[in-house]
Amino acid sequence: MRIISIINQKGGCGKTTVAINLAAAFRELGLKTLLIDLDPQAHASLGLGVSPEEVETTMYDLLKDPRVDVPDALRLVEENLYIIPSSPVLSAIEQELSGKAGREGRLLSKLARIPADFSYVIIDSPPSIGLLTFNALMASGEVIIPVDPSRFSIQGLEKLRETLELLERETRHTIAVHVLLNNIERRTAFSRAIVDEAERSHGGVLMKSIICHSVRYKEASSLGLSIFRMKHVEQFQEEFMTLAREIEAGVPASLAVESIDDWMVRLHGPRRIEEGILFILNAPNAQNVYLTGEFTNWSREGIRMEKDEKTGFWKTVLHLEPGEYEYRFIVDGVWIKDPNNTDSVLNEFGQENSLLIV
Ligand SMILES: Nc1ncnc2c1ncn2[C@@H]1O[C@H](COP(=O)(O)OP(=O)(O)O)[C@@H](O)[C@H]1O
Ligand SMILES: [Mg+2]
Repeated sequence: MRIISIINQKGGCGKTTVAINLAAAFRELGLKTLLIDLDPQAHASLGLGVSPEEVETTMYDLLKDPRVDVPDALRLVEENLYIIPSSPVLSAIEQELSGKAGREGRLLSKLARIPADFSYVIIDSPPSIGLLTFNALMASGEVIIPVDPSRFSIQGLEKLRETLELLERETRHTIAVHVLLNNIERRTAFSRAIVDEAERSHGGVLMKSIICHSVRYKEASSLGLSIFRMKHVEQFQEEFMTLAREIEAGVPASLAVESIDDWMVRLHGPRRIEEGILFILNAPNAQNVYLTGEFTNWSREGIRMEKDEKTGFWKTVLHLEPGEYEYRFIVDGVWIKDPNNTDSVLNEFGQENSLLIV
């Protein structure tokens, strides 16, 4: 499964148009696809004929309520194309989750439970870099940045690429960046000059596919349809098929869904995986790390953790019966609580032990 966010802090550059029609193009290729509407304006939902008033479960519920999972929020648009709709209340989520641990990883943790037969998840994001966009980026292995050169200079992209680099450093999570030119006038000298300039400044990440200007895109979304449900627009359908094929032919980016468990442990503390309970500590410079706690009678030796050389994470998996366990890590001889786990209790020395409830 590949998860691709469509982002750009500018409104009106074509994020929603690209998100809807790219998701629909993957469907045309026979690939089961989910479109996630992460913009409180709900344009992607409306653009596929889903009105926020008529849906019971939206992105807001999925991000807010631990009891709501992806299958509860999915809505079928047509065979192989699903949407999780947005609603205006989603704009309140940033404030409601403020100060909550792991709030940037909420979408990622929900997507870890997505049915396995989905090939693509496309995320339409709002025109700002806030909590919602961070959730989109944390969950994505790839981003597509649509740029409308008739409205904004291509240089405007620099800020966005800085944000992405910062996020990559903070999370040690690599995101593949693609820049997509949108709203290009066909065959004018001006549009050729724009493509040339984009190649000069963003050559390494510029997509070969281009989306041209056409009123039919606006028409389609105002009818609540993808371009593939319109008549006599083969040329524009072909633009999105070409884009979908270009992505499908590319190498999937490095965030494999398999590493979601690692991310979740880094965000929320130990987590159940198939083999047991996974513990992770991010300590790239440590020489040795042990896990100790009630399950080893607080032995000084504890359980030796293994370093994953690729990520610098120390890991171990334990089999634990249901119950409550206090634990700590021993990093080069120093006892510490688990920095990723917000649950802790004070021990007899007045220090904090991390608390795990299995
Ligand atoms: N290639 C295009 N040709 C013509 N109109 C376009 C094209 N791409 C986007 N638009 C129109 O421009 C407006 C803004 O696009 P939209 O996809 O909503 O941008 P964003 O989601 O980035 O705010 C919409 O009215 C949309 O129909
Ligand atoms: Mg939009």
